[in-house]
Amino acid sequence: LENGLARTPPMGWLSWERFRCNTDCKNDPDNCISENLFRTMADLVVSEGYAALGYEFINIDDCWLEKERSLTGQLVPDRTRFPSGLHDLSEYIHSKGLKFGIYEDYGNYTCAGYPGILGYLETDAQAFADWNVDYVKIDGCYSHPRDMDRGYPEFGYYLNRTGRPMIYSCSWPVYQIYSGMSPNFTSIIEHCNLWRNFDDIQDSWASVESIIDYYGNNQDIIVPNAGPGHWNDPDMLIIGNFGLSYEQSKTQMAIWAILAAPLLMSVDLRTIRPEYKAILQNKKIIAVDQDPLGIQGRRIYKHNGIEIWARPTTPVYQNYFSYAVAFLNRRTDGTPSDVAVTLRELGLSNPGGYTVEDLYEDVNYGTLVPNTKIKVKVNPSGVVILRADVQPSFEPSTAR
Ligand code: DGJ
Repeated sequence: LENGLARTPPMGWLSWERFRCNTDCKNDPDNCISENLFRTMADLVVSEGYAALGYEFINIDDCWLEKERSLTGQLVPDRTRFPSGLHDLSEYIHSKGLKFGIYEDYGNYTCAGYPGILGYLETDAQAFADWNVDYVKIDGCYSHPRDMDRGYPEFGYYLNRTGRPMIYSCSWPVYQIYSGMSPNFTSIIEHCNLWRNFDDIQDSWASVESIIDYYGNNQDIIVPNAGPGHWNDPDMLIIGNFGLSYEQSKTQMAIWAILAAPLLMSVDLRTIRPEYKAILQNKKIIAVDQDPLGIQGRRIYKHNGIEIWARPTTPVYQNYFSYAVAFLNRRTDGTPSDVAVTLRELGLSNPGGYTVEDLYEDVNYGTLVPNTKIKVKVNPSGVVILRADVQPSFEPSTAR
């Protein structure tokens, strides 16, 4: 969607994967979906240094609403869990220099059974604008996937008509894929800033692997759709929760960066361990994710449990791109696997070579030419991610 927003993939925090539909503020006040949770996370995004690295959205997911609209048909945030209202919460988030995101559903109900926007598109778009919302995620439960080709653009039209710039995140393709339709990506690119293609992420390595496989196996259809203003969304980062090991967490971060994915953390920032925080705050990998060219990477090799993923990045010299390259070990035989490959085999053939560095470990390979063989050791369910920056090739001097 060319609305001037999301020129690089959005970054921030989203409640769903970690906090779900916990509405029990009586017994679990610190973890229920409430204004306090979002205020606390906004505080921590700033004080713990995430904001300085680009994480800027604080996004509400499902379960923020009263079960009924008001008598005049307005959406009402849950009165006990959001007593100050969303205008206030939004103001608080903005006062921290952050941006505010909200969730709704193009259907009769949200997935968790709260009122959906069907029948109220114009009213709800205006409500979001009045609350100074910056990012809107529209889910697709309780609606007909065949109606979405008309419905998602129609809601986007009303969002646009409010005059307030809001990122528009769509679940349009994933619901169509589930029902056996082939999504019209030309239209999705035109109307959405990002969209979900596949299953919800869960707190497990198996879930992360299934997403990686989906994006790799369907890359010919998926990859060309990404670019500034319009991104594929493989779902939230679950780094720092219960299900991923340290290696697996590094893998999620690296592959999401190769995929030019939105970086939406769904984790308790009050209790995240320092080594997981460091992964989420890895500047070099964030820079890959946020590369201005916005070209999504691909799986370029897969054999015996070893995968290589590569993403073209800046700087570009003549016709040669730089690359981020991730070596992924999907094997489970408990010892690191060696991978050795020349840059040329990876598709890196600039005669002037590349400066190569490891983005997790402090290893600088110096300048390598296309025929150099690069050797890495990749831990089980882990990753090695490198950056290879193209070097200008110098013409031989014509000294007499
Ligand atoms: C399905 C979506 O895909 C999830 O990301 C989350 O928003 C839930 N619905 C909420 O009910």
